[in-house]
Amino acid sequence: MKKRNLFLPVMIATMAFGSSLSSAADIEKTIEARQSFMRVYSFNLGLVGDMAKGKSQYDAEIAANAAKNLLALAKMDNGPMWPQGTSKEDPGLSEKTRALPETWTTYPKVSERHKELTEALEKFVNVAGKDLASLRMGIKDVGKGCKGCHESFRAEEEE
Ligand code: HEC
Repeated sequence: MKKRNLFLPVMIATMAFGSSLSSAADIEKTIEARQSFMRVYSFNLGLVGDMAKGKSQYDAEIAANAAKNLLALAKMDNGPMWPQGTSKEDPGLSEKTRALPETWTTYPKVSERHKELTEALEKFVNVAGKDLASLRMGIKDVGKGCKGCHESFRAEEEE
């Protein structure tokens, strides 16, 4: 009899979060992981973005490597970083995440956006290390790939 009651808290947690995440701390770690992942995208895009804008000198090797890193990141399987119940509308998360509920409610739209970025990056790896003009051409679709997803699935930054 006593043993059976042990299952109750687990069941409630599963119902509340729709996943195996069981504590607020786990959820925060998961959100931090995906935000950190996005920052690694951002760092690598910054390297080539600065070159495209003339803020830094074009360097074929750095550009080629940044492009390869971006593609490698896009190819990671990050499903577990995006469990249901972790949008900014979910209880207690409005300050922790900018992920909009549409990420889940309109699924698989978010995956289509991700696919567009991946496709842009597959082209970008072939041109980033060629020369500055090619990098500038290719980076446009990469930028669109990031923005295309943020427009629908990421809330504006709050002041
Ligand atoms: C498939 C959708 C999608 C794609 C593609 C995408 N992002 Fe994001 N990004 C998000 C979502 C959703 C968030 C909000 C995550 C959160 O706060 O939990 C986010 C957050 C971020 C953040 C803020 C991270 C933080 O510290 O809070 C940065 C920076 C970022 N993205 C950069 C990029 C860059 C650069 C690219 C393209 C190379 C990109 N993203 C592609 C969906 C996407």
